This record gives sequence, structure tokens and C-alpha cells, in this order.
Amino acid sequence: MKSLALSSLILLAWDSLAQTINEIWETTADQKSLLKSVTSTNFTFGSNVGSGDGEIDVDDGTVYQTIFGFGATLTDASAYTLNKLKGKDAGAYAALLKSMFDSTPGAHSASINYVRVAIGASDFSPEDYSFNDEKDPNLSSFSVDIAPPYLYSTLKDIQVVNKNIRIHLVPWSPPGWMKDSGSMNAGNLLEEYTDTMAHYLLKSAQGFESKGFRPYAISIQNEPESQNPTLPSCLYTTKAQAGVAVSLRKLLDSNGMNDVKVIGYEHNWDNAATYASELLREDGASDAFSGVAFHCYGGNVKQQDDWHNSFPDKELYFTECTGTVGSDFWNDIKWTTSNIFIGGLKHWAQTGLMWNLVVDPEGNPKLPGASSCGNGCRGVVQIESDGKVQLNQEYYAMGHAAKAILYGNQPTKRIKVNVNGDALLGGAYSNGSGFSLVVLNSGDDYLKTSIKFRGKTAMYTFPVGLTTMSWSA
Ligand SMILES: *[C@@H]1O[C@H](CO)[C@@H](O)[C@H](O)[C@H]1NC(C)=O
Ligand SMILES: *[C@@H]1O[C@H](CO)[C@@H](O)[C@H](O)[C@H]1NC(C)=O
Ligand SMILES: *[C@@H]1O[C@H](CO)[C@@H](O)[C@H](O)[C@H]1NC(C)=O
Repeated sequence: MKSLALSSLILLAWDSLAQTINEIWETTADQKSLLKSVTSTNFTFGSNVGSGDGEIDVDDGTVYQTIFGFGATLTDASAYTLNKLKGKDAGAYAALLKSMFDSTPGAHSASINYVRVAIGASDFSPEDYSFNDEKDPNLSSFSVDIAPPYLYSTLKDIQVVNKNIRIHLVPWSPPGWMKDSGSMNAGNLLEEYTDTMAHYLLKSAQGFESKGFRPYAISIQNEPESQNPTLPSCLYTTKAQAGVAVSLRKLLDSNGMNDVKVIGYEHNWDNAATYASELLREDGASDAFSGVAFHCYGGNVKQQDDWHNSFPDKELYFTECTGTVGSDFWNDIKWTTSNIFIGGLKHWAQTGLMWNLVVDPEGNPKLPGASSCGNGCRGVVQIESDGKVQLNQEYYAMGHAAKAILYGNQPTKRIKVNVNGDALLGGAYSNGSGFSLVVLNSGDDYLKTSIKFRGKTAMYTFPVGLTTMSWSA
């Protein structure tokens, strides 16, 4: 009896010290708040705080997948556009990089920590190029210096702002001479070049590393189920893609890069149960691939479950979706949050990435003649020719997700959360001692909500918009 009383006393004392609110960020549908830091004296966990119209129950007893990060693709076009701003106004450029990549606690920034970078040209490059354009099966003329120099200088500047930035490499095509089309555009990888392509990818990883950018992951091919005669693209069967992956995995392991993940698929939700699953069943594929990546241009986010349920021990990345020039701010926030930045994670994604990080307001510059992005692909950020910077809806949706990453010794993982209230969607995360919550209120009005955590309750009135909050316990 005595020891029981003592231990509950200690528990009480511990409890009253716990749950300090660290940060609250909000973006409202009316855009009066845009990733704004708010201080609320209301938000403390206690007893007898009443009840609200909504209820959020955070349960850290159930822990799900690790979250790797949020960001976009630093295309050549993005690096070009940023570099142009650097030349015009170095101060504005430095401020913009900070507002995108600064992940220090409390920083007024989207806190992006993950970028995807093309190996060679994409449809947002000044021209078609690979790192080894001349036919040369020994790859003796291979060089990563064929990429525009502003790609590396921009990455370097990003790394200064966020030294933990994760870089995910992916080719839009093998060099043309490895393909039956003889060009970077369309066609298939010739089977005889399976190992050569794996060497090409190893050399790409080593090339980035030699510039100070050790890759976090490398995908075999962007969108392997589609070819387009106007832009770098390549069809791969699941067998061909697995063949390159098996060879690449061995090469990375024998060259001191066993931590670099090999990722497959990189295509739409709709073929999660077909191509993406068949890929992992190819010979050697389950050892070679750390996981697969999904894009949003076909099917729906729930299909990620089909793949996850077949391969629960493998990693699931979400690496591409684009906004379209001219679409509505609040509708886009609701869609990207429901399908990527909260919803994607509920369906097992460990990353959430958009397409171009930065382009101009029309979604340029593009590869000359490329037929993609006909209606204009909006960048996460856009910069006008006079240097005026605009942070778009994707910036805010992404920032709210990235602000939920808790930095410390332990990685941030998704934890269980039950949400009652039709207008509410919530995602909860923890690194063991820190906790965060991202809440979308898509209703018409403020919603007074009780948030339950470890037997205590806090009341918070969520504005129509997005709110990210974090606390420690
Ligand atoms: C490629 O390397 C092999 C073996 O090292 C050599 O015999 C061959 O001449 C090389 N081919 C070219 C085109 O350099
Ligand atoms: C969890 O995150 C918080 C906030 O960033 C940090 O202070 C703490 O050290 C982290 N804890 C662990 C175990 O990583
Ligand atoms: C804080 O409490 C006041 C008074 O009850 C209320 O008007 C306000 O909406 C609350 N704010 C939040 C963010 O819950």
C-alpha cells in the first residue's frame, strides 16, 4: 500500500511538470495566418477542462512508421530560378533559402529536409543531357560536371542552411546509347546494359558524394511505365528494373555505400498492387530494394495500403505531385493535406514531396519542346522575373507537415490518433519524448476541440485551416 501511494505521488508530480507546449503554427483558409507562430495560454493538458465539439485522442502506445521528411524536387529549373535570384539580390535569396530549409526549432520556415534531384536531364532542364552522353560501355567519360553548375552551388547553399538535408537521386532516363530509342527520350533500356546502368547509377552516387552530397536514396527510374518522345523518359519492365537494382545494391555495398537506399517504382498510386508489387517479387528484388516510391497522377492514396500490406517491412516513399497554375489556395491545401501531408502518412508514406521546388509564375523554364505540364506546373515557391518571391499553397501544406518532425536523438514516428469531428483530420507523431499533432479543420467555422493525451485533456479551438502543435512529456 505504502509503496503504491508513493509511486502515484511521484507520477502526479511528474505529470504536473510534463507536457510543456513548445510550438503552435497556423495557416488559415482566409490566408490571414500563413505558417504563423501563435502563442496560446489555453493549451495545457489538465483535468476537468470540459469538452468540445471535436475530440482528438492521441495514443502514443501505438507507434507506426518512421517519418523521413518533406520537400520537393530541386530540378535544374528550380536551381536556375534560385540562382537567378541570387545574382539579382543575394539577401533575398539567402532569406528565401532560410524560409524553405531552416529546421531549427521555432524557425519561421517550412523546414524542408528532403530534396529529390535528377541524375541528368528531366523535363525541367535546359537541354537533354546524361552524365555519359558518348557511347562508352566502360563509362570512362562519365562526369557529373555535365550538369549545370548552379545545381551544385544551390545544393551547397541549401546544405549550409540545413546540414541534415536528405538528397534522393533519380534518373529520368539512362543515357540514350543504352536504349533502343537511341535517345534520352522514350524507349527501353537494352538488356545488355543492365550492369552498365547500375555502374552509371553508382558513379552518379559517388559523383554527388565527391561534391559533398552523400545521397540518402537512389531510385532506378522516374515513372518507368511511361515514355514520351518529347522528354527524358524510359520504359522498364519489372524484371529490367529489378535487374538494375540487384546489380546496383551489390555495387553500393562493395563501395562503402551500404547506407544508401535503393528505391523502385517511382510511379502512380494506381499500380501499387500490380507493377509496384510485382517488382518486389522479381528475383533478388526484395533484398535489393529498400522500398518503393509513389506519385499522385493516377489512382488514389488508399492504394498505398495495398502495397504496404504485401510488404509491411519495406519502406514507402511519396515523391511527386504537382500543383497547377491558377488553382485555388484553400482547395489545394485541403487536397494535399488529405492525400499527402497527413493522409499519405496515414497510408504508410514516410516522405511527402511535391514536384518543382521553385519555378516562375507560369511554371517555367522547361525543357524546350517538352509536352509535360501543359497547364503550368506550379512550384512550391515561385519567383517572378523582377525577383518577387511568392510562397504557394504547397509551401504552407508542406511546412505544417515538416514542422511536426521532432529533432533529437530518436527519429520521429507516426503514432495513433483517433479524431471525432467530421471537419477534422489529424496526424500525430512522436520521437519518444516529443509529440506533435497536425490538424486540418476543413469545416466552415472554428472548432472547439478536446485533445486527450495520457489521461489528460487540453482544449484548443482550431481555426478553419491547418494547425501544427508540439509538446514534450
Ligand atoms: C573497356 O575496358 C576493357 C577492360 O578494361 C578494355 O579491354 C576495353 O578496351 C575498354 N573499352 C573501351 C571502349 O574503352
Ligand atoms: C524529441 O524532440 C524534442 C523536440 O525537438 C527534443 O527536444 C528531444 O530531445 C527529442 N527526443 C528524443 C528522444 O530524440
Ligand atoms: C482560448 O480561450 C478563449 C477563452 O475561452 C477562447 O475565446 C479562445 O478561442 C481560445 N483559443 C484557442 C486557440 O483555443
